[in-house]
Amino acid sequence: MPEISRIPRATEVNMEVNLGGLIMKNPVTVASGTFAAGLEYNDFVDVSTLGAVTTKGVSLNGWEGNASPRIAETPSGMLNSIGLQNPGVQHLKDIELPWLREVGATTIVNVSGHSFDEYIQVIEALEEAPVDAYEINISCPNVDAGGMTMGTHVPSVEKVVSLCRNATKRPLIVKLTPNVTDITEIAKAAEASGADAISLINTLLGMAIDAKRRKPQLARVVGGFSGPAVKPVALRMVWQCHNAVKVPLLGMGGISNGIDAVEFMLAGASAVAVGTANFVNPHATIDVIDGIAAYCEEQGVKDVKELIGALEC
Ligand SMILES: Cc1cc2nc3c(=O)[nH]c(=O)nc-3n(C[C@H](O)[C@H](O)[C@H](O)COP(=O)(O)O)c2cc1C
Repeated sequence: MPEISRIPRATEVNMEVNLGGLIMKNPVTVASGTFAAGLEYNDFVDVSTLGAVTTKGVSLNGWEGNASPRIAETPSGMLNSIGLQNPGVQHLKDIELPWLREVGATTIVNVSGHSFDEYIQVIEALEEAPVDAYEINISCPNVDAGGMTMGTHVPSVEKVVSLCRNATKRPLIVKLTPNVTDITEIAKAAEASGADAISLINTLLGMAIDAKRRKPQLARVVGGFSGPAVKPVALRMVWQCHNAVKVPLLGMGGISNGIDAVEFMLAGASAVAVGTANFVNPHATIDVIDGIAAYCEEQGVKDVKELIGALEC
């Protein structure tokens, strides 16, 4: 196996971006739930060189997640129904956050909850911890209470975002679900309620069937669809939101290489997240950073911010 570098190569391009008050040394983070808190990727990626590490969704107490099987492969994508399994906020505070601080990573904590109150309790538990920004997940399709149900209706989006806004002065990123008719009305509600940035997209609701057994492939029958197959949907929604709100966007959905990331930035994203690609290529984040820099160098772009919303229609 050829030697891989855990850090991006040097570039003259100014790669820094500002995501709603969160300064990122380059536009690349990871999509929550696909990178844990980075410890397991340490052999492949120096996480301090990423724009940020976004941790797996955390709730107040641990959640066991859904029954197995909860992963299924499909052409150009994957289905998961993990169900926000996590060991709870205290574990994050005791183990992962101190490690991320020690290695010098910029840290976004993805916050989840079964109720409005739980989101607030998680934020309150984290206010003294080394966290640079929160990403509020109101978009998980794999839990029965909270999650996506909160992110599909304007009144509940307004309520949960306002409550979170009142609980912290730190940059607040609100993560939207694509499983809605009009993503722009949800984005506008999040912005009006105090979001500093909006991230999109979470997974699309899907299912896979084993015809021989006449059974669903996932124990929960339906799950969240991600990977290269969802990229056109994600790009379309980033572009729609860029035209609808003023707050910066964190774009994700099927990003595997630098050119995918550039496309998201041209559509209006200020930063991007690499998700399912990490499972195929644990070095994908570094490849994406290098790929964005290479594109800028080829195009004579001196500052990566010039790409944001530069799509010519
Ligand atoms: C296995 C798995 C677990 C995920 N867990 C979370 C999570 O805890 N919180 C969250 O906001 N999104 C979660 N997501 C959604 C991703 O962060 C991302 O929004 C989605 O997968 C689209 O990006 P991708 O196509 O690059 O994977 C998860 C996705 C996968 C595949």
